[in-house]
Amino acid sequence: MENLQHTTLGEFIIENQKQFKYSSGELSRLINSIRLAAKIVNHEVNKAGLVDILGEAGETNIQGEDQQKLDVYANDVFKSALINREIVCGIASEEEDDFVTIEGKENSHSNKYVVLIDPLDGSSNIDVNVSVGTIFSIYRRVTPEGTPVRIEDFLQKGNEQVAAGYIVYGTSTMLVYTTGHGVNGFTLNPAIGTFYLSHPNMEFPDTGKIYSINEGNYVHFPQGVKDYLKYCQEEKDDRPYTSRYIGSLVSDFHRNMIKGGIYLYPTSSKSPQGKLRLLYECNPIAFLAEQANGKATDGYVRIMDLKPTELHQRVPIFCGSPTMVEKAEAFMAKYPEDKNY
Ligand code: AHG
Ligand code: MN
Ligand code: MN
Repeated sequence: MENLQHTTLGEFIIENQKQFKYSSGELSRLINSIRLAAKIVNHEVNKAGLVDILGEAGETNIQGEDQQKLDVYANDVFKSALINREIVCGIASEEEDDFVTIEGKENSHSNKYVVLIDPLDGSSNIDVNVSVGTIFSIYRRVTPEGTPVRIEDFLQKGNEQVAAGYIVYGTSTMLVYTTGHGVNGFTLNPAIGTFYLSHPNMEFPDTGKIYSINEGNYVHFPQGVKDYLKYCQEEKDDRPYTSRYIGSLVSDFHRNMIKGGIYLYPTSSKSPQGKLRLLYECNPIAFLAEQANGKATDGYVRIMDLKPTELHQRVPIFCGSPTMVEKAEAFMAKYPEDKNY
C-alpha cells in the first residue's frame, strides 16, 4: 500500500509558502503549474520509444540546432501550462527566438513573475533512451506591473532568481528545486502521479571523485582547463578521479550533487563562448548549486554575478563540489587572458 506518511510536493509547496519574501501564493501556484507540466512531459518522454515521435521536427531553433519533436512538445506544454493559468507575465525559452508576453485577463499584465526555461535538456539523448531534463528559472519582473514585460525583465543577474529547479526524466522522474532555502528533491510515483519528498536538503559533498566534461574537445580547450584535466588524471593522493559524462546537463549535475563531483563546459576554439546558455541553463544550475553547498563559476567569476546581455547568451560553466571548483579556478587563474571570452 502507498506509504501515506510521506510529504507530497503539493503539501510541501503549501507548507513552505510563508518562507517567500512576498507571499501572495502566486509563486506557489506557479510551481504547481510546473509540477503539472512536468507530469505531462514525463508521460510523453516515457512513450518516446513506443510511438512515432522520434526524430527531428524539421525545424531549427534560433541557435541553428536541430529541434527534436519532444523539444517542441515540451516547450508547448510548459508554455500552455503557464499561459492558460495566467500565472506569469512573460516566458523566455531556449526554443523561442524572442520572449513571450502574456497579457492576462483584460490585458492586465498583472502577474509578477517571469519564467525562463530549457524545456528539454539533453534532447540528443532521447533516441537512445538516456535521461533528459527540463530546467526552469523564475524572477520577479523589474518593470511596473500592469504593463507588458520588457527585455530587462529577462536579462536579470542570476542573483535575482526567486526560484529555480529541474526535472530529470530518468530511471525515476524527479523534480528538484529551490526557492533560496536549500534544495529539495521529489520523486514521482508514476502509478498515482504524485511527487513525494525523497531527497530533503540536498547538498554537494565538499569534494568528490567525479569530473564531467566532453573530453573529445580537449585539443580546443584553454590551457587552464587542459592543466586541470591533467591534474584530475594524475596518480596522487585521492586521484586519478573518475570521468562520467552523460551529455545531459541535468543528469550530470544531479549525479554530481549526490555523489560529489565537478561539471565543466568551458570555452573552446570551437565554442568560444562555451555552449550552455546563461539564462536557461547556467543561472538556474548555479542557483541550485549554491543552495546545495556547491559553487558555479565561469572559471573566474561567479555565474550569478554575470550581467546578461542577450536572451540566448552562452557562457562557460564550472560547477559542483566547492573544493573541486576552487581547484579548477586556481588552474584558470594562471591564464588571466582567457577570462575575456
Ligand atoms: P539541449 O539539449 O537543451 O540543447 O542541451 C544540451 C546541452 C547539455 O544538456 C549537455 O550537457 C550539453 O549540451 C552536451 O554538449 P556536448 O554534446 O557538446 O558535450
Ligand atoms: Mn539544455
Ligand atoms: Mn533544450
